[in-house]
Amino acid sequence: MTYVIEVLRQEHRNIEKLLRVLEHLGVFDRGDRPNYEVVVGIFDYFKDYPDSCHHPKEDMIFNKLKSRNPAAAAKIGDLRIEHVEEASRLRRAAQAVERVLADQDLLRETVDEIIRDFIEHERQHMKMEEQIFFPTALKALRSKDWADIALKLADRRDPTAGMARWTLRRGHVSVGNQISKRRRA
Ligand SMILES: [Fe+2]
Ligand SMILES: [Fe+2]
Repeated sequence: MTYVIEVLRQEHRNIEKLLRVLEHLGVFDRGDRPNYEVVVGIFDYFKDYPDSCHHPKEDMIFNKLKSRNPAAAAKIGDLRIEHVEEASRLRRAAQAVERVLADQDLLRETVDEIIRDFIEHERQHMKMEEQIFFPTALKALRSKDWADIALKLADRRDPTAGMARWTLRRGHVSVGNQISKRRRA
């Protein structure tokens, strides 16, 4: 499989892990207080990484697909707009968490609903990419297109990548601790 698609699939797996962590924390739908450091860390990751590193790679592939096979690209829709909508759902969820942290009045059910909506749309979007977008691109793009993409990516080292990896690790460690604490309790 083309290297950049492998990277994207791996990033999806990382995103899915974080979504599962959010779900595991059951963030706001239980009486007990979740580990807010982990929740904030997860949203920090989502604010940084997908927009600066994940979406640009997909957008580059989508642009190539549009020029190689416009009909196939049209069937997928507008990936760039989906990414903009994803970012706005993320902002909404992060703001809800911030309001809870600031002890502002917000119904738990409302916060829970906003976060579940974010998780669900993330999953739907990744599923579409895995099942439709990536296979379509793999079929339509030529070796030269993948080489162009790899070259552009090599030019733009992402300054936040280290931080994102750190956030992800911190999330895993903290969540691991939280799970073992619960098991011991
Ligand atoms: Fe995407
Ligand atoms: Fe993606």
